[in-house]
Amino acid sequence: MHVLMVTSEATPFAKSGGLADAVSALSRALSHLGHDVRIVMPRYGAIPIQGLAALPKPLEVAMDGSVERAVVYQGQLPDSGVPVYFIDHEGYFSRDGIYGSKAEPDFADNPRRFAFLSRSAFRLCEALRWKPDVFHAHDWPVAFVPVYKRYSEPFFESTTSVLSIHNLGYQGIYPKTAFPYFGLPWELFHGAGFEYFDSVNLLKAGISSADRLSTVSPTYAREIQTPQLGCTLDGLLRARSSSLVGILNGVDGGDWNPASDKYLPERYGADDMTGKAACKAALQKEFGLSIAPGKPVIGMVSRLTDQKGIGELFGPTYGSAAKLCLDMDLQFVVQGTGESWCEAELGSLSSRIPNFKAKVGYSERLAHLIEAGSDFFMMPSRYEPCGLNQMYSLRYGTLPIARRTGGLADTISNYNQETGTGTGFLFDQLTPRAIYDTAGWAVWAYYNRPDQLAAMRRRAMKLEFSWEASAREYEALYLGPEGKKSRAKE
Ligand code: ADP
Ligand code: GLC
Repeated sequence: MHVLMVTSEATPFAKSGGLADAVSALSRALSHLGHDVRIVMPRYGAIPIQGLAALPKPLEVAMDGSVERAVVYQGQLPDSGVPVYFIDHEGYFSRDGIYGSKAEPDFADNPRRFAFLSRSAFRLCEALRWKPDVFHAHDWPVAFVPVYKRYSEPFFESTTSVLSIHNLGYQGIYPKTAFPYFGLPWELFHGAGFEYFDSVNLLKAGISSADRLSTVSPTYAREIQTPQLGCTLDGLLRARSSSLVGILNGVDGGDWNPASDKYLPERYGADDMTGKAACKAALQKEFGLSIAPGKPVIGMVSRLTDQKGIGELFGPTYGSAAKLCLDMDLQFVVQGTGESWCEAELGSLSSRIPNFKAKVGYSERLAHLIEAGSDFFMMPSRYEPCGLNQMYSLRYGTLPIARRTGGLADTISNYNQETGTGTGFLFDQLTPRAIYDTAGWAVWAYYNRPDQLAAMRRRAMKLEFSWEASAREYEALYLGPEGKKSRAKE
């Protein structure tokens, strides 16, 4: 099949979270299965173009009656034959930040920027004389793709549009004054599903218009159809239920493998864990903690947003982190960026509590060191579409302490101290007390059931999380029910 991935992020070019990892790993896996997969994304200012060839002619993209031009640079996704087309438009993409900056967290012209990207995808296919079987769009920024395909790109009628929802909490809601720029007649404000409390909701339009829908875990696919986690779109998602599937993300074994991880001082595997002790010592040193091989270390790497349970964990006076560190013989390390109150609180906790250390910032190397050097990984998410960090943790023998929601519920099995089974420590209610108790349970097991923990680590490290298996499910989604039937006959 010929598949065009349309995305605002892809590792290693531009990343704000797991979306970037998922898009690149899925593209690579589909390409390994023999499909012709290509990626189109913006050429943000930070993406170097030295050495990349430009397509011979700029694209001419008609928006609100005017035509805008974009140069396209062609690169390649590392370790694959997947071409990556970077759409270069100085006015929209050369600034710092994918969706916003410190001064302007959500760029006011985002609907224009991403409408332009989405429309460019069609012009790109024409320039390449390449008609894909599938347009696969990811999240709200490119939710325009299924809308354009359905209502204003008749040449691509036979192409299937797939929209993947990586996070329903972000929908792209903007004033309806943005609408004329999209180059669609006003009747589609309602007709294509943009209308949302008299504003435009880009994800809602995409969900309404796409031929097929997916999200990133089976549990989350069910949860988003409920009022609790449907973020006001649960009714629409229930109506589209027969076109919606949940496909779990995998783990990229090249980037995240403790046996070959280039960021670690020593490497290790399920059959020889000695290198993990060296990583723990390096982590303790890096964060200025006492080097104590026998003390449990809880690690965390996260965007600091409400989705991740940061209020219950770090909220001043009521969050559980401080009490946890004061009451229990453990160490706690955190790396993250996000909401400013939380960044400030992490600084304050680090200065007050000797066994708590946080670094505010983004570092790939430290993320790997935390995964490898910790004993437990903290992930008390309010909701979690899939979650990659807990899968990385499991592969690194670092047992998650997590809330049973979304992809966390699908990837972690709960500890049982009678039988020693499980791969992590789960709780249901998101409260400071539940986090405290569950961390306490893990620490108890660390000191009192070391053999069970060692067996849990080995079990966790052997879990597969293969992208190949996920890619096969996407293959089936692309083919649709009819395709599956004709394949069965072959
Ligand atoms: P989400 O996409 O909701 O943020 P995921 O668990 O799917 O959650 O993916 C998060 C990804 O972003 C992981 O690869 C994680 O290591 C990375 N990440 C998040 N915050 C940081 C940070 N401060 N430094 C380095 N990597 C980070
Ligand atoms: C989103 C979700 C996360 C998921 C990632 C990749 O950022 O928050 O749970 O793992 O997308 O699909």
